[in-house]
Amino acid sequence: MERSIGLIIVIAIVTIIQIVAIIYAAHLIRRTKYNLIWILCIVGFLLSLVHHFLQLFPREGHTIDSGLFIALDIATSLCIVLAVLFANRLVNYLDRLNHQRALFNKRIMTAVLRTEERSRSTFAKELHDSLGPLLSSVKMSLSALPGENLNNEEQELLKNTRNIIDEAIRSVRELSNNMSPQILVDFGLAQGVQSFITRIGALHKAKIDFQTNLRKERFDNDIEVILYRVICEFINNSLKHSGCSEITISLQLNDDTLKLDYADNGKGFQPRSVADCGMGLSNIVSRIDSLNGELDIRSSKGKGMQATVIVSLKQNLITTKPKKRWQRRLR
Ligand SMILES: Nc1ncnc2c1ncn2[C@@H]1O[C@H](COP(=O)(O)OP(=O)(O)O)[C@@H](O)[C@H]1O
Ligand SMILES: [Mg+2]
Repeated sequence: MERSIGLIIVIAIVTIIQIVAIIYAAHLIRRTKYNLIWILCIVGFLLSLVHHFLQLFPREGHTIDSGLFIALDIATSLCIVLAVLFANRLVNYLDRLNHQRALFNKRIMTAVLRTEERSRSTFAKELHDSLGPLLSSVKMSLSALPGENLNNEEQELLKNTRNIIDEAIRSVRELSNNMSPQILVDFGLAQGVQSFITRIGALHKAKIDFQTNLRKERFDNDIEVILYRVICEFINNSLKHSGCSEITISLQLNDDTLKLDYADNGKGFQPRSVADCGMGLSNIVSRIDSLNGELDIRSSKGKGMQATVIVSLKQNLITTKPKKRWQRRLR
């Protein structure tokens, strides 16, 4: 008798759990378009409930054929197995949805980067073509002023004004060049990077060694601009944050891939801890993502910083095929 009371309690608990599961599954029918999974679950649970009900309340004088129990068990198992098989379709659907979402985000990112680059270029041109000639005219007008009739003080003032105008003309040229480097547009990646290194190297003590097997090859504009910006950001970071004495950069074209190896011998940092806070590094991550490229940044305190970027030239910027897994690693 004690044993049967124990059994009754267990069956009652299982029944309650299954009723809750049925209610929840019924609720899910309306939430997903794969409602067959939940319907099968409900049928499975209901059959199992019938099984328990017959066990709990056997009708007086009737003995239940054990074949009925077996049939109920088989039907329950079938429902659950079919539900699991259909669940696989739901998982595939979710995978497809995630892929589409990633593709959509990448499209937005690429559009943002292109728009940003276009407005930089327009602004740089405006600056160069409007303010540049104006300052040059001021300089010419000043040069036309007769200097002989001026006293020493006035001559000094004129000299200073000329120097300031020269400085302003240089700044406008530099600013416009930094915003949209003409040499990158005209001569390509290797020359653009070399020109940046020459300019920035003159202002810092660190030795910058740039090796490349690129000559006059030209790539998709997005690839050139993004790799150029990434290299500039790496160099700026090394010079600004690391206190390094040496930077080595290697940019190699092998078959259909461009590989950038970058290293400095500075104080190093924890890439993970700054991954979400630094604008520069997170821009690098999203720029390389938008090219479907691979990025690996390695650094630790006292051990300098090393980075590898690999960009496939064949792969479209926005692919409609299921994505090749692109890596993004910050170690
Ligand atoms: N080469 C490097 N050496 C040492 N620290 C670095 C280096 N690059 C980045 N960092 C660290 O990572 C942080 C984030 O860099 P970044 O995202 O470029 O932002 P920002 O340069 O504007 O500070 C920096 O503030 C710096 O602490
Ligand atoms: Mg930075």
